[in-house]
Order: sequence, then C-alpha cells, then structure tokens
Amino acid sequence: MIVCVCHRVSDKTIARCAQQGAGFDDLQLEHGVATQCGKCENSARQIWAECQPSQRMVHLIQATAPDHARG
Ligand code: FES
Repeated sequence: MIVCVCHRVSDKTIARCAQQGAGFDDLQLEHGVATQCGKCENSARQIWAECQPSQRMVHLIQATAPDHARG
C-alpha cells in the first residue's frame, strides 16, 4: 500500500528501512517520506515505529512468555 503519495513510498519500503535500522530522518532523506505535503507523516511514523528491531523483540518476548508474565 502506498503511504506517501507524493513520493510513491509504500508501507513495505518504510518497514524494510525500519527493520534495517534506518531512522525516520534517513527515511525522509532517502525516500522523501513526509517532505512535501506532510499528510503521510503520522502513518509513516507509526509504521516505522512498529517495525523497529526493538519492537520485534518485544513481540517475541511477549509471544514466548508464560501467560501470567505477559503485560
Ligand atoms: S503524501 Fe507524503 S509528503 Fe505528501
């Protein structure tokens, strides 16, 4: 799905960059996300945040923890 219409950047591209450790500023510099009209910024930031390597670990920890230890 295209998230940034102005620069034709998809959710997959944003997710891939985040998973590779790119900061949101890097995403803006490399792909132009949220640098024109800005309407995509909230969505792009949400996808980027959800795909951070640290977020994947949180999900992994929650998935493997016993039920009583999950928050
Ligand atoms: S939709 Fe991303 S800058 Fe306009």
